[in-house]
Amino acid sequence: MKAHIVLLPGDGIGPDVIASAVRVLERIGARFNHTFNFTSKAFGGVALHQKLPPLPDDTLAAARSADAVLLGAAGDPAFDHLPPAQRPEGGLLRLRTELGVFANLRPARSWPGLEEAGPLKPSVLAGTDLVVVRELLGGLYYGTPRGVRETNGAVVNTMIYTTPEVERVAHAAFRLAQKRRKHVTSVDKANVLEVSQLWRRVVTDVAKSYPDVTLSHQLVDSCAMKLALAPASFDVVLTENMFGDILSDEAGAVCGSLGLLPSASLGPGPGLFEPVHGSAPDIAGQGKANPVGAIASAAMLLTDGLGLHEEAAVITRAIERALASGLRTADIMPPAGGTAAARDKARLVSTTEFTDAIVGGLAG
Ligand code: NAD
Ligand code: IPM
Ligand code: MN
Repeated sequence: MKAHIVLLPGDGIGPDVIASAVRVLERIGARFNHTFNFTSKAFGGVALHQKLPPLPDDTLAAARSADAVLLGAAGDPAFDHLPPAQRPEGGLLRLRTELGVFANLRPARSWPGLEEAGPLKPSVLAGTDLVVVRELLGGLYYGTPRGVRETNGAVVNTMIYTTPEVERVAHAAFRLAQKRRKHVTSVDKANVLEVSQLWRRVVTDVAKSYPDVTLSHQLVDSCAMKLALAPASFDVVLTENMFGDILSDEAGAVCGSLGLLPSASLGPGPGLFEPVHGSAPDIAGQGKANPVGAIASAAMLLTDGLGLHEEAAVITRAIERALASGLRTADIMPPAGGTAAARDKARLVSTTEFTDAIVGGLAG
């Protein structure tokens, strides 16, 4: 296969983890005889530093014509003073809208060997394997009216959903559940918000087309609690934009580190693949970034973007092998209070060393 992949490394640790993901894709291309052509474009704070908008026109044009887009992170403290649309993050939000990627899949699982990396008891984390399906183009992020009211200086954001917006993402979640353990937990705040009452009604209706999938509804506050108490009880977690943003970071922490989480944002055109984490200014430029979220996003690009399943499975196994060998970036080192076995095995490595091990594990 020939595929054109547009790279938007972006800010902070974005370029480091995208470099890792590209090395993995290049090795996969060589092994399976695929030609992946990469074009890298300015995006986010990097573009702003060049006096360009956060999503330059030619970057958007390249993304639209790509077979898939692989993105690092958008966010730079130098631009935190700007209004939302002009910030690096504003470029990301616009890119998602322009590509029409309404369904954001964020898988979180317990990786073998990392049972002690996170805050939970290994017995609580065991068997965790869930996907947050986050609605990505609606809700509070995009609703109008927004901004400062001229009359009294009050500031407003609007949480708004239409029936078709809920339907299309609900279908995506149910179809995904059919390929998994066949359970959808729909998360809302229907005890308080009218928009959540619509969400619950529409999801209940969509569920009727999927008799093989069970549906439960859960309020977002209790879902946040249950994610910490019983993460293994979830299969597909379907929720609106803002709740999904928050719950997916929690799912990352529960599984050991936010740096482990990949995502796929899907719509009618090219998919957008990006780790769930941000630009991590606190560790940028230090070789400390965990590349797994980005590398696993490249694996999702292969399955959900290009239909290459075997190739993606090879990547997942290589990540598992690197972890099994004891290699750890700083964010997934076992804590001081952990077991001696976990501590003895763990070896602290840099982003590049960890990537070397994964790439080495991709050979046939
Ligand atoms: P963040 O996700 O960048 O970092 C949160 C914490 O997790 C930090 O302590 C960081 O060091 C750690 N972390 C994140 N990714 C890691 C990795 N791969 N390996 C090891 N540790 C990792 O969130 P933040 O600090 O709240 O935000 C920083 C900037 O990133 C902000 O400008 C924010 O708007 C932006 N952001 C962008 C995206 C995106 O591009 N999709 C996502 C989240 C945040
Ligand atoms: C994410 C990020 C983005 C979001 C920000 C950077 C706009 O937090 O992808 O989770 O809120 O969607
Ligand atoms: Mn987020």
